[in-house]
Amino acid sequence: MGYADQLFDLTDRVVLITGGSRGLGREMAFAAAHCGAVVIASRNMDNCLSTAKEIEAETGSTAMAYQVHVGRWDQLDGLVEATYDRFGKVDTVINNAGMSPLYEKLTDVTEKLFDAVVNLNLKGPFRLSALVGERMVAAGRGSIINVSSTGSLRPGADIIPYAAAKAGLNAMTEGLARAFGPSVRVNTLMAGPYLTDVSKAWNLDQDQTNRFAQLSLQRAGNPSEIVGAALFLASDASSFTTGSIVRADGGIP
Ligand SMILES: NC(=O)c1ccc[n+]([C@@H]2O[C@H](COP(=O)([O-])OP(=O)(O)OC[C@H]3O[C@@H](n4cnc5c(N)ncnc54)[C@H](OP(=O)(O)O)[C@@H]3O)[C@@H](O)[C@H]2O)c1
Repeated sequence: MGYADQLFDLTDRVVLITGGSRGLGREMAFAAAHCGAVVIASRNMDNCLSTAKEIEAETGSTAMAYQVHVGRWDQLDGLVEATYDRFGKVDTVINNAGMSPLYEKLTDVTEKLFDAVVNLNLKGPFRLSALVGERMVAAGRGSIINVSSTGSLRPGADIIPYAAAKAGLNAMTEGLARAFGPSVRVNTLMAGPYLTDVSKAWNLDQDQTNRFAQLSLQRAGNPSEIVGAALFLASDASSFTTGSIVRADGGIP
């Protein structure tokens, strides 16, 4: 095994990824499965199953599909039980499932929409981290990665509930790092703009250049470009990194 392979080694690790069926989660799932087993959890079971099948065919690793609504507190117990029943452990949780609905004006935001945004981006990651974090502490190791957004640092007018939920996630990361240390690490992986299904709402055909001109890299990220930072945080390469924010965002102004 080469030096870098050793540093970022995830051999035989079990990585649980919410929203692993599409977008950034799917990329991270493929990357993790090149070393160990993965659990793909999202609402659409067909998507989870087909992604799991593709991952197994490409990597030879085990990929388990699980249907769950991450915004529903009581569904997360089942996800954790099923994962431990199957693998006996979880080494890394990636709280990745999220949604960022846009709106024209603030009064268009209903209570239902506000609650759904907070439930998925903040409440679900809290509950899943609580359930798995305790077991990780008992096992003596683990890494939890919370996928946040640069919107939490620079909230645009059209994403305020989302930005607030992700800002809560940033704060939660630090608290969880204290709760689960010293054996378990918890970090925020902060994404900037990536070309996933989310970007379809951005009307990129019209002003691709202008939209990203203010980023240092002057472009949106391709989903595969999240992988390096995720592997860093999942593996022992980040053994002295916890409660922190790692930004993979193209350089926000
Ligand atoms: N793309 C960006 O530009 C960007 C920027 C900053 C931060 N982020 C963050 O990065 C993460 C991934 O974003 P993405 O762009 O990859 O999103 P995406 O392409 O829309 O994929 C979202 C994933 O989450 C799952 N999901 C959505 N709602 C769910 C729910 N209620 N319960 C369980 N799973 C759910 C989806 O599967 P199902 O539909 O089957 O449930 C899908 O697998 C999110 O947390 C997002 O906020 C993205």
